[in-house]
Amino acid sequence: MTPQRASRTAEFMALFRALESVRHPVSARLFDDRFARGFLRPSLRAVVDVSRVPVVGRAVAAYIDRRWPGARSSGIARTRLIDDLVQEALRDGIAQLVILGAGFDCRACRIAGLERRQVFEVDHAGTQAMKTARLRRMLGALPPHVVFVPLDFARQRLDQALDAAGFDPATRTLWLWEGVTNYLTEDAVDRTLRYVATSAAGSRLLFTYVHRGVLDGSTAFAGTDALVATLQRAGEPWTFGIDPLRLGDFLAARGLALAADAGAADYRMRYLGDAMRGYEFYRAALAEVPSPEAARP
Ligand SMILES: C[S@@+](CC[C@H](N)C(=O)[O-])C[C@H]1O[C@@H](n2cnc3c(N)ncnc32)[C@H](O)[C@@H]1O
Repeated sequence: MTPQRASRTAEFMALFRALESVRHPVSARLFDDRFARGFLRPSLRAVVDVSRVPVVGRAVAAYIDRRWPGARSSGIARTRLIDDLVQEALRDGIAQLVILGAGFDCRACRIAGLERRQVFEVDHAGTQAMKTARLRRMLGALPPHVVFVPLDFARQRLDQALDAAGFDPATRTLWLWEGVTNYLTEDAVDRTLRYVATSAAGSRLLFTYVHRGVLDGSTAFAGTDALVATLQRAGEPWTFGIDPLRLGDFLAARGLALAADAGAADYRMRYLGDAMRGYEFYRAALAEVPSPEAARP
């Protein structure tokens, strides 16, 4: 992607969240993201507006699910999964949240309790500039508890950028890295994980990754051809993946302990109660920064 312009894939996620936020019945919605619509181009905003009519909303979701199997359903189930994790971290007294590659994620504004915590949002300058402009328009001002940190994971140092932004490495932190590792180089992922591992013991990192087999073709997954073509057109092809069987070792080599790992079929079943097809390769993992005693061999 070009650092100057806003990410298209961040807009796709905002579209899925905006559609979920107008879905009927209201009681079935996995979350309410009243900000997501505000990040969309006018044509997509119109799609969300007509989707308020239940029959149209169902048809739009069915069209997306047929064209890009699993992208929408796994996106909204994952959003809820991470919302739940943030709530749990809040109950657990976590004081800092860092959202890496935040895109148009508006948890900092929509999850109650985060307004009393320190939140850092890190993203490409182009995506972040659009986000802050739209947030100003929607809220009148930027949320005072959020520090926006423009950064390119490929070219800049996260430690220096967060240090300059006031991040406290001694405070237990929840790190979110949703929908980003697949766009990076192995080197950028490696450096980021090693840095996260230097944060306070007990800090947690929720990140998503794609099964390596979807990149090298060694494992067959339904619906990947249309998806790969769409990502190429958006200028944001996938470049990095991990073999889930090796995830524990991969993280341990970078100073982190694997706590949980789930594929799209698992979290979709949990929140949508449905064995929908597609995106089985899109996984969400939770890692922890071990205490120094636990980390010692
Ligand atoms: C699919 S979007 C996910 C956004 C957000 N986490 C969400 O779930 O809605 C990918 C995000 O990664 C960011 N990104 C991709 N490559 C990046 C890089 N090299 N440096 C910084 N951010 C990057 C994009 O700007 C975009 O916001």
